[in-house]
Amino acid sequence: MPDYRIALIPGDGIGPEVIDAAWPVVAKAAAANDITFATTRLPYSADHFLATGETLPDHAFEQLRDESDAIIIGALGDPRVPDNEHARDILLGLRFKLDLYINFRPVRLWHERLTPLKHAPRIDLVIFRENTEGQYTGRGRSEGVGSPTEEHVSEEVNTRSGVERILRAAFEWAQREGKRRITMSDKSNAIPFQRIWGELFEEIGAGFPNLEREHRYVDALAMEMVRDPGRFEVIVTNNLYGDILSDLGAGLVGGLGLAASANLHPGRPGLFEPVHGSAPPLAGKDVANPMAAVLTGALMLRALGHPRPAGSLEQAVTTVIAGGPTTEDIGGASGTTEVARALEEAVGS
Ligand code: NAD
Ligand code: IPM
Ligand code: MN
Repeated sequence: MPDYRIALIPGDGIGPEVIDAAWPVVAKAAAANDITFATTRLPYSADHFLATGETLPDHAFEQLRDESDAIIIGALGDPRVPDNEHARDILLGLRFKLDLYINFRPVRLWHERLTPLKHAPRIDLVIFRENTEGQYTGRGRSEGVGSPTEEHVSEEVNTRSGVERILRAAFEWAQREGKRRITMSDKSNAIPFQRIWGELFEEIGAGFPNLEREHRYVDALAMEMVRDPGRFEVIVTNNLYGDILSDLGAGLVGGLGLAASANLHPGRPGLFEPVHGSAPPLAGKDVANPMAAVLTGALMLRALGHPRPAGSLEQAVTTVIAGGPTTEDIGGASGTTEVARALEEAVGS
């Protein structure tokens, strides 16, 4: 009997390439620690949607919910589906319907030369992005379309329980990991309905007296992350700001080819994905960096309770970044498959 049932949804664009390249690396690190997987590959993607009209059918959702220990997604998004319907249904659909309220996005500088900053500081922070509400619920309306009063309203939802649970998750993780500082970010100076974030941050934070609490408006935080990223340890914020800040963070440490994320609800199976999208211009060329997908596998292993193989994947990435081969996005000239082969060799060596 394999230890874990893993569902793979390679998706669109570079998604299948990075999953095919990265998964054997992840499986090797796991096997070296006597961990085995039964993997199921699911076809949900733009191709599947265009051929069948299906995004994520109910039976597949139920299978993912009831019969998997973790889900891995490559990337979703395709110019042939201009309103992104399938990606919203599959990616956002799974986050929402599985109630994976924590989007855990580490930002770590694996090698000094990868930062565009002149003086490379130590960068090692985690963004806790709220993942089930904010601007992402799809609530809103269009009125008077075609008339002079045409209006499109997108609602931002901040529930007490939703804000409370992401803040608590960030505080608890920070305490467990021995962090000293936690930064909450909102835009409550312009959006008064966001004040609940500040109130609950103080209320919950009072229970964690060893953690220094600080607040930054998101515009100022974006600036400070560029000027002094080394001072941040844990950033907790809403869905949209977390989305934007995680790409900013990725930009500080080598780009999207290295950024991994985990969608979590403690006690339930998680959904793991690189932060990057389907990168249509790179698709099919064997140029995408598979490291984000490998590091995503490390997040999965850690969430399943296996820090050793997770650490050996991170070590393999560090080794290969330092000595090559690497893909173009981080300064090399090698292909996806060649980098993956080097990572596989580095695992456990
Ligand atoms: P993108 O992440 O696909 O690409 C942004 C930039 O990063 C591009 O320059 C791309 O070449 C580069 N890049 C991304 N991944 C890389 C990798 N592994 N190696 C090297 N370079 C890499 O974002 P986008 O162009 O804004 O979006 C493309 C599509 O992907 C859209 O349909 C979007 O909605 C979708 N998307 C999906 C996800 C997801 O599935 N999780 C995330 C973001 C965007
Ligand atoms: C991400 C992506 C998604 C998001 C898109 C594709 C809907 O940008 O995972 O960061 O906004 O959450
Ligand atoms: Mn994003």
